[in-house]
Amino acid sequence: MFNFNYYTPTKVIFGRKTEEKVADLIKEFGGTKVLIHYGGGSVVRSGLLQRVTDTLDKAGIAYVTLGGAVPNPHLSLVYEGIELCRKEGVDFLLAVGGGSAIDSAKAIGYGVTNEGDVWDFYDYKRQAKACLPLGVILTIAATGSEMSDSSVITKEDGLVKRGYSSDFGRAKFAIMNPELTMTLPDYQTACGCTDIMMHTMERYFTNGGNMEITDSMAEGLLRTVMTNAEILVKNPKDYDARAEVMWAGSLSHNGLTGCGNDGGDWMTHKLEHELGGLYDVAHGAGLAAIWGSWARYVYKDCLPRFRRFAINVMGVEPAGSDEEIALKGIEALEAFFRRINMPINLRELGVNATDEDLALMAHKCAVGVNGAKGSAKLLREADMLAIFKASR
Ligand code: NZQ
Ligand code: ZN
Repeated sequence: MFNFNYYTPTKVIFGRKTEEKVADLIKEFGGTKVLIHYGGGSVVRSGLLQRVTDTLDKAGIAYVTLGGAVPNPHLSLVYEGIELCRKEGVDFLLAVGGGSAIDSAKAIGYGVTNEGDVWDFYDYKRQAKACLPLGVILTIAATGSEMSDSSVITKEDGLVKRGYSSDFGRAKFAIMNPELTMTLPDYQTACGCTDIMMHTMERYFTNGGNMEITDSMAEGLLRTVMTNAEILVKNPKDYDARAEVMWAGSLSHNGLTGCGNDGGDWMTHKLEHELGGLYDVAHGAGLAAIWGSWARYVYKDCLPRFRRFAINVMGVEPAGSDEEIALKGIEALEAFFRRINMPINLRELGVNATDEDLALMAHKCAVGVNGAKGSAKLLREADMLAIFKASR
C-alpha cells in the first residue's frame, strides 16, 4: 500500500427534507451574501430554487442568482459569475444542481479570490491560492463534485474541456436529499450511475500495488451501484435505490476508493473529456461509449486487476485462462451498460466521428496529459487514437 493523504472536509447532510437546513448551514460557514448558481432550469421547474430562496429570505440572508450552467459548463458563464460576485460583494457560493453547476461555481470561486485569468488554473499554468466558500444542494448523483477537489470547465474557444483539482475547491457542505433526484430523466440517472462506477474503476485499474481494504470497498461500491441502477431503470421513484446511488456517488470521488493506490489510471475520463468538449455529449454516456475499447486495449497490461474485477464485481466464474476471465468481465460490464440503456460505442452515443475528428481529439488529449498518462497501461497519442478508432 502506498502512502496517501485522505482529506474530506465536506460536511454531508443526507436524507429527506435536508435542503430546509440550507440557511443554517450558510450561516455556520460565515456566508452573508450568497451567489446561488444553477443550471438550465430544472431547479426552477421542480420548485427547489423557490424553496431555497424562501428559506434564505426567511433567515435574512442576502443573495443574487445566476443560472445557465450547461452540461460541460462554459468558461464564459464563469467570467460572468466572477464579475457578478465582485460587483455584489458575494462572500459565499451555493450551487444548486449537478456537477455542471457545482464545477462552474468552483471556477467562479477561484476567479473571485485569485488575481488574473481563472483559465490559467485549468491550463496548468499556476495554482489557485484560495476559493470562495462553497455549499451544494445536489440534484443528480453522478460526478461526486459535491465532495471532490475537482472542477471541469469547457473553454468555448477551441472547445477545450479541462479539469482543475485543488483542496480549496472542496465544498464546505453538501446537502443530499435523494428525493431531489427523482425528477431526473432516466438517461441522466443512468449517465450518473456510469460516472459513479467509473470514478472507482479509474482508481481500481492500476498497476499500483496491494490495497486490500480499498479494493473491498471499491468492489462493494461497484456491485451496489449496479444493483440499484437496475432497480432505478424499473422504478425511478425507489427512494432507497436513489439513496444508495447518491451516497455511492460521493464516496466514489472523494478519494476513499483510491487510498493506497498509485493515483489511478484516469484515461477513460481523459478520452471522454475530449468527446464532451467536441460533441457536447453527456459525460456518463461518453464514458460508457469509450470504456470497452479502452479496456480491450489495456487489459493484458493489467491482467490481475481485470481478472479480479471480472470475478469479484461482475460475477464471472473463475474458470479458464486469466485472459478469458478478464475478457468475460469486460463483456459483462458492457452488457450491464446495455441493460441501463447506455451506449457502448461512439455510434450508439450518436457521434459520427471522422478520422480528422479522432486525430484531433487524440492530439488534444495527449497535450492535455502532457504526452502520456495511464496506470493500467501508459498511453500516448497513438494509443489514444487507436482507442478512439476502436470505439467507433
Ligand atoms: O441544467 P439543468 O436544467 O439543471 O438540467 C440538468 C442537465 O440537463 C439535469 N438535471 C440535474 N438534476 C436534475 C436534472 N433534471 C431533472 N431533475 C433533476 N433533479 O441533468 C442534466 C445533467 O446535469 P449536469 O449537472 O450536467 O450533470 P453531471 O452532474 O453529470 O455533471 C456533468 C459535468 O461534470 C463534469 C463532467 O465532465 C460534466 O462537465 N465532471 C465533474 C467532476 C468533478 N467536478 O469532480 C468529475 C467528473 O468526472 C466529471 O468530469
Ligand atoms: Zn466522471
